Amino acid sequence: MPRLPDDLLSCPVCAAGLELLAAGQTLGCAAGHRFDAAKQGYFNLLTGRGTAFQPDTAEMVQARADFLGADHYGHLQTAVADLAQRHAPHPRVILDAGAGTGYYLAELQRRHPGAALVALDISKFALRRAAGALGDGVCLVWDVWRTLPVRDAAVDVMINIFAPRNPTEFHRVLTPGGVLLVVTPLPGHLAEIADDAGLLAVRPDKAEGVATTLAGLFDEVDAVSVDYTLQLSPTDIYNVALMGPAGHHLSARDLTAGLAGFPGRTAASARFTVQVFRRSAGPSGLADV
Ligand SMILES: C[S@@+](CC[C@H](N)C(=O)[O-])C[C@H]1O[C@@H](n2cnc3c(N)ncnc32)[C@H](O)[C@@H]1O
Ligand SMILES: [Zn+2]
Repeated sequence: MPRLPDDLLSCPVCAAGLELLAAGQTLGCAAGHRFDAAKQGYFNLLTGRGTAFQPDTAEMVQARADFLGADHYGHLQTAVADLAQRHAPHPRVILDAGAGTGYYLAELQRRHPGAALVALDISKFALRRAAGALGDGVCLVWDVWRTLPVRDAAVDVMINIFAPRNPTEFHRVLTPGGVLLVVTPLPGHLAEIADDAGLLAVRPDKAEGVATTLAGLFDEVDAVSVDYTLQLSPTDIYNVALMGPAGHHLSARDLTAGLAGFPGRTAASARFTVQVFRRSAGPSGLADV
């Protein structure tokens, strides 16, 4: 059953407090708005709203679950959890914006068993998995470009890993002094297989771009590069291609055909930056609460 502090979520319709009802099967507010859990345990707060964004498909999510399940990104998972622990040792609430299958949040849950967890993602296929992986974490289908269904200054640690960022909303929901960890790929990430697997190129200035978009609302307090070599089977290459943004455009059949001649193992670079930002008071008009 999900675990939720009373003062954490807000109703996406009327902004009143949103609480768990009916033994955790429903989220509801005092005005009577109700959101029932799907049978896999996540809550769809976007019901009836539609969205302009492309959620990850079932096929993409399956590829992500298989690839992460083989622990190829275990070093990154550890680096994120280590940095979060260093900068926020005792979080009460941890939120993952664009949580996918919950792989990174699950490690934070192991490290901070007393913390309440919220996984936001626009893909219900991703949150089916996250709900299974996170036990009492609360998984919400939501679009990070909208006002988040979270009260002001309620979150101590937010993680945002290869997913879209909404700087003003992230600032609003974090506690004063709360931390935001952002992971982006570095140039050269998966370069050895990029052409054959149809991957999109990594922009050289991606990490600087993150700092720029967060400027004025967050101060960068730490940054760590994670750089190692993966040994990938053709199946791993198929999965890593399909699970990323290129997965929206790739055909599984073409990809399988393209990888037919690949050797049993291919070496490929894994290169990421984990940036740690501390919520600042913000520009005038965005006063601290
Ligand atoms: C590349 S995946 C990363 C998932 C996860 N952080 C991980 O690294 O395993 C990007 C995720 O962002 C989600 N996403 C894309 N646009 C979104 C939006 N506007 N709001 C919320 N989630 C979004 C996708 O559904 C997908 O799960
Ligand atoms: Zn309401």
